[in-house]
Amino acid sequence: MSEEKQTLNAQTQRLAALGFMVASVCHEVSNPLAAVSSMLQILQSKRGVTPETMDKGLASISANIARVLAITKKLGDFSRVGSDTLVPVAADAAMEEALALLRHSPSGTGVHVQYAGAPGAAVLARSGSLQEILFNVLLNAAQAMNGSGSIEAQSRVEGGKRLIVSIRDHGPGIPPEHLARLFEPFFTTKQAGQGTGLGLAITYELVQELGGGIRAVNHPQGGACFEIDLPLSPREP
Ligand SMILES: Nc1ncnc2c1ncn2[C@@H]1O[C@H](COP(=O)(O)OP(=O)(O)O)[C@@H](O)[C@H]1O
Ligand SMILES: [Mg+2]
Repeated sequence: MSEEKQTLNAQTQRLAALGFMVASVCHEVSNPLAAVSSMLQILQSKRGVTPETMDKGLASISANIARVLAITKKLGDFSRVGSDTLVPVAADAAMEEALALLRHSPSGTGVHVQYAGAPGAAVLARSGSLQEILFNVLLNAAQAMNGSGSIEAQSRVEGGKRLIVSIRDHGPGIPPEHLARLFEPFFTTKQAGQGTGLGLAITYELVQELGGGIRAVNHPQGGACFEIDLPLSPREP
């Protein structure tokens, strides 16, 4: 496929994915907004509003608004369909950037990542998209280990045509009944305020638009392992 065609294809796919997500987003956003609306009605009625009720009411409004903002932020990053063309991106450079982001996030500071790179290997990607894919998976791995422990990551070239990136953690692994649902928008096992359930749904779409795939398995020796398979770029970065 020509690069121009691949970019167009990626944009069409992104629009389709967005369309699919919009329905679930409407549902997810209207719940907190309805909660905010009824809380405001209670507080505005002024009848029997003690200082404690006021504090609780404001805390609930603030938590619900934070949830809506977290959702719109995640989707805002994803919704840029724009003119971004696909350019060759070095796998190791994207991993370095993702690791730097991880070190700066609260769950990532106490995590040690051992990375075996694939020097020279590159994929065709939108600027920042490979880094986002890797970061989303690394962050989940760090969160699964409650912010401490080690992650083993590896990039390797297979058959001269594909780049395989695997990321393995030493957390509790994934319950078998969740394996099929991980990439659904808004599937999360995290507490309210901790996760949006959009990380892997967006990651799945980003990987698809690069012509790749992602899968999750439980490692035989424990922990979860995510494997991302992408076509190598015919050009160097
Ligand atoms: N490395 C992992 N180990 C165990 N469970 C995981 C891992 N990565 C993802 N998951 C599961 O997949 C769910 C969805 O992940 P994600 O889409 O990133 O949303 P979020 O992180 O906001 O919950 C998580 O809530 C968790 O249950
Ligand atoms: Mg996540």
